Amino acid sequence: MTAEGPTELKTYLPSAAAMAGAHVQGMAAYDALCAEAEADYAGYWARHARELLTWKTPFTQVLDDSNAPFFKWFADGTLNASVNCLDRNVERGLGDKTAIIFEADGGEVTRTTYSQLLARTCQIANGLRSLGVQKGDRVIIYISMSIDGVAAMQACARIGATHSVVFGGFSAQSLRDRIEDTGAVAVITADHQVRGGKQLPLKSIVDEALAMPGCGSVKNVLVVKRSGADIAMTAGRDQWMADVADRQPTTCEPEWVGAEHPLFLLYTSGSTGKPKGVQHSTGGYLLHAALTTKLTFDLKPDDVFWCTADIGWVTGHTYITYGPLALGGTEIVFEGVPTYPDAGRFWKMIQDHKVSIFYTAPTAIRSLIKAAEANDKVHPKSYDLSSLRILGSVGEPINPAAWEWYHLHVGGGRCPIVDTFWQTETGGHMITPLPGATPLVPGSCTLPFPGIQAAVVDETGKDVPNGQGGILVVKKPWPSMIRTIWGDPERFKKSYYPDDFKGQYYLAGDGAIRDAKTGYFTITGRIDDVLNVSGHRMGTMEIESALVSCTELVAEAAVVGRPDDTTGEAICAFVVLKRPRPTGDEAKAIAKQLRDWVGKEIGPIAKPKDIRFGDNLPKTRSGKIMRRLLRSLAKGEAITQDTSTLENPAILDQLGENL
Ligand code: WTA
Repeated sequence: MTAEGPTELKTYLPSAAAMAGAHVQGMAAYDALCAEAEADYAGYWARHARELLTWKTPFTQVLDDSNAPFFKWFADGTLNASVNCLDRNVERGLGDKTAIIFEADGGEVTRTTYSQLLARTCQIANGLRSLGVQKGDRVIIYISMSIDGVAAMQACARIGATHSVVFGGFSAQSLRDRIEDTGAVAVITADHQVRGGKQLPLKSIVDEALAMPGCGSVKNVLVVKRSGADIAMTAGRDQWMADVADRQPTTCEPEWVGAEHPLFLLYTSGSTGKPKGVQHSTGGYLLHAALTTKLTFDLKPDDVFWCTADIGWVTGHTYITYGPLALGGTEIVFEGVPTYPDAGRFWKMIQDHKVSIFYTAPTAIRSLIKAAEANDKVHPKSYDLSSLRILGSVGEPINPAAWEWYHLHVGGGRCPIVDTFWQTETGGHMITPLPGATPLVPGSCTLPFPGIQAAVVDETGKDVPNGQGGILVVKKPWPSMIRTIWGDPERFKKSYYPDDFKGQYYLAGDGAIRDAKTGYFTITGRIDDVLNVSGHRMGTMEIESALVSCTELVAEAAVVGRPDDTTGEAICAFVVLKRPRPTGDEAKAIAKQLRDWVGKEIGPIAKPKDIRFGDNLPKTRSGKIMRRLLRSLAKGEAITQDTSTLENPAILDQLGENL
């Protein structure tokens, strides 16, 4: 990622205002938490688990590592996640407090109190039960940002069903794959989703997925009404959410589950094969969701918290559906996009709702910088952002220039930025500043969250000295870690606890470097074949298989990433067709056709930005594709690598040509 080493950059100390009343005040307090975890690791997590969560049956065990790397936490304790997020808050007098401020794409605002959210969750939970959905069943949720979306996740948790949310931008094929892999009994969706003033289908995509083979497990489809437009309903399978839930009682006996009970599965891309179903637990996951929301965002009772992620991604799970609600916070749920009706939407919403904590992705910031620089009207300076006190960043490295802009123009120079490094698999923040404690360095996610044993090692698992890059690992299991890959424990072991590290350390899949002086971490990017496009994880293999599945046209394809100013990385595909290499308009037309194909196979987020055609791909004599050459070609760099092992060096000129 950055060429700049963190030490050359300015350091920002937490201001007196950021420190005042912070949950963790000053580095001494941070160090004390780390020391507590060091001295008694189990005791440290157990203390937080007792303080932050309500247990039906208190746990007596903390970490069980008897079947490593399948670690268990708090295994003999029982609890319910929705009781922790909802009932608990109502019981402590927060029933009338606003839980969610929902703003629709068109700007309409709906406020939902904790009592109302609990009532709605119970109605949906009762509705699901009335259809026979039970503890342990899987439920797919394919819906856009909405109160019912959050309530549906909570409702699954209430009855012990395991939810698996599929981002509304995924195609019917991707949805089908997830339905089959989870063996889901029900799908919760909406008639349409509305984004950027446009109405886009959801239910018809569910219909398309369910018509494909492998979806026989699905007995019921519940449809939330969003657009009210005509849609097809299949008798005996599809029902309106209103018909199933609205007449249900507003109370619902929760299903008490063991702490290890799978709260959700969330599919994410790996370096090989199909997306993997990351399985999260109830107790350990919820603990870290609550603890990181409390310490990283310093959430207080009067805050208005806004995480702009979609509930289809892990950030939306942890920092919309679970973390802020577990603490009784008030949060924004936003249906729309940052550029509609104009690129001032985020700033206007911060102003209107007096948002105090704002959490978004570098890709959004970078695109809003461009818009603001072109038009004062959508510049943050045209809005009153004085309510802000903490800013956050997630999903990809934030480049120092974007960091400085965010700090100055959005945060008015007074709000600490928490650059939070974590992953779908980690459940919550792993390396991050704490706003009232950590001196900030733009571009660095600074130091591990207290208790997290992050380290940088070499290929053999040995620590590398600070100042030298290496592989990011976590040396000890932590409560919110991935439990397994659904249905594929071997793949879990191989992906995260490979033998190279003697099966001891969790392998994040990212490279990192620690600053020689401060020990601060900077993430240098993925070390596997995973791309990060606008903060969305995509496997190169996944896109390649989508391309070659267009059997009529494509003979071979190789996909690599190249740096992109706005999206972080962009997808570049090198394609060999089953017909002579096209040029000019024909090449453009085929590229479009292939882009649409990938959009259909995976979803629009996976469409390659560049497609280049060749008579062949650069291969060694043994037939291996030389991806490092492709990466150079994608960047438009001169080839300086040794190409003597290449079977067909002439191919490089062809593939270097942009369409
Ligand atoms: C990247 C998103 C640098 C990283 C929560 C990781 C980051 C992948 C940061 C996980 C950050 C996430 N700085 N890189 N602050 N946050 N990443 O599973 O490569 O969608 O492995 O989880 O995003 O992406 P995922």
